[in-house]
Amino acid sequence: MKGVILAGGTGTRLRPLTKMINKHLLPVGKYPMIYYGIEKLRAAGITDVLLITGKHSVSLYTEFLGSGKEWGVNISYKIQEEAGGIADALELAQNFVHPGEKLLVLLGDNLFEDSLAGYVKQFEDQSEGAKVFLKEVEDARRYGVPVMEGGLIKRIEEKPEHPQSSYCVTGIYLYDSTVFDLIKTVEPSARGEMEITDVNNLYAMQGKLSYHLLTGWWIDAGTFPSWFEAFDKLREYSHIDSADAKPSAGDDK
Ligand code: G1P
Repeated sequence: MKGVILAGGTGTRLRPLTKMINKHLLPVGKYPMIYYGIEKLRAAGITDVLLITGKHSVSLYTEFLGSGKEWGVNISYKIQEEAGGIADALELAQNFVHPGEKLLVLLGDNLFEDSLAGYVKQFEDQSEGAKVFLKEVEDARRYGVPVMEGGLIKRIEEKPEHPQSSYCVTGIYLYDSTVFDLIKTVEPSARGEMEITDVNNLYAMQGKLSYHLLTGWWIDAGTFPSWFEAFDKLREYSHIDSADAKPSAGDDK
């Protein structure tokens, strides 16, 4: 299975910081945000990774991640010339994924606790379709909201005023390679973006969109409050403790 991390976008909700640096390079604990998605893919046994980002700060990505060797993966890069939505960015992965191959797609600002290894294995054994990961949230209006029926997703409503459930569709998606044919049929939405929700709804209409509920914490770190929350959650993961406050030999004074 291939792994794709989408790290484009304009990061408007994290301005003014994102005037200077791409959102997914902002630090969370000891690492830039992008690191955690790479690590989730590696831990799920996915080592061929495509990172799709805008032109902004791309050299910082290559400086930190390089070929991926240090992080246990092979990373390729693609540039999305202009922010055109998640589905528009994902289309750039077409040549990276062979026909018949499956892919795990992560939005780079989605940070979460669950391991994806078991789900990836299960999806490998599945013949076709797509799978999304859901999390119960307080304000579903900020997200894609699923309407479930008989163990499948019937449809997803993007940022609805009156959510039909208290679940959000997280930015963790499993697809078969037909996703690229479906993307081509999607038109830009009212906000001028190619919506991943529209792509997912094409699977749902065919009765091919299943789901899993995440059991651990999940954060879309694209706003200041949620970015701060991510810092707290990942403090332990980054092994930040009192030892980090002590000067060590060679430290600048
Ligand atoms: C995107 C998706 C939305 C999803 C969310 C998860 O929203 O469009 O369906 O629930 O990611 O993070 P965005 O954060 O781009 O507004």
